[in-house]
Amino acid sequence: MDHGEATTTTGPVEASAPLGPPLVELTDVNKHFGDLHVLKDINLTVRKGEVLVVIGPSGSGKSTLCRAINRLETIDSGEIRIDGVPLPEEGKALAKLRSDVGMVFQAFNLFAHKTILENVTLGPIKVRREKTSAAKDRALALLDRVGVKNQAGKMPAQLSGGQQQRVAIARALAMKPKVMLFDEPTSALDPEMINEVLDVMVALAQEGMTMVVVTHEMGFARKAANRVVFMSDGEIVEEATPEEFFTAPRSGRAKDFLSKILTH
Ligand SMILES: Nc1ncnc2c1ncn2[C@@H]1O[C@H](COP(=O)(O)OP(=O)(O)OP(=O)(O)O)[C@@H](O)[C@H]1O
Ligand SMILES: [Mg+2]
Repeated sequence: MDHGEATTTTGPVEASAPLGPPLVELTDVNKHFGDLHVLKDINLTVRKGEVLVVIGPSGSGKSTLCRAINRLETIDSGEIRIDGVPLPEEGKALAKLRSDVGMVFQAFNLFAHKTILENVTLGPIKVRREKTSAAKDRALALLDRVGVKNQAGKMPAQLSGGQQQRVAIARALAMKPKVMLFDEPTSALDPEMINEVLDVMVALAQEGMTMVVVTHEMGFARKAANRVVFMSDGEIVEEATPEEFFTAPRSGRAKDFLSKILTH
């Protein structure tokens, strides 16, 4: 499961960059799908500059948590604040919130009929009302940063999965988000492409981006995460540093889960 030794770094970003004020705050958040209680009294704070890894078995609510933070899912009770502001219900305020919260999914979700460059400039031009030339310049700089500038004129289908996922990261960054959410960004990739995406994420973390990352990539967690939260059955069961969590999980559920993923 652990693919990641491509980047050599000294460890979590924590040592070099002190964490800032709370940026994402969930207070007593509950969510049901019919009879299924998928988020149970979730209390979680992510500070500015923090990299939080969310880990847990299938169906434990990790994607629902991410989607709730971006308000792609509503919640039944509790409160979610981004940079001190409660999530807006709808309208312009919600669109603004969405651009503050960048999201990268498991499937690359690029617009299939637009070029790579257009994929990255579309949001800034349409939503942020940036000038086309400025948006293009910044998009090219972002594509360069994720290592795919030379693909700018191609269509998504002409790129590998790893390249497409790096474009998806550039596209999210083009909206100048305050926080980036990643939901299993490497789990649909062929193994040889996983590191190229993780390396971009590690670099982002080192630059101080606030990140919530659902992943089972322990190499990434160890290198980049300040904290790991373990979810099971809609609850946060355990919170620890990556080192503590992977070497000495406290709960039976975490031990059981780790023994399963570590044997792969
Ligand atoms: N739109 C939906 N309608 C009904 N049930 C849903 C919906 N989305 C998710 N669920 C259920 O909610 C629970 C949590 O799902 P979620 O996708 O958040 O889990 P997950 O931890 O991301 O799992 P995985 O590791 O498989 O991605 C699951 O039991 C799932 O079947
Ligand atoms: Mg999921």
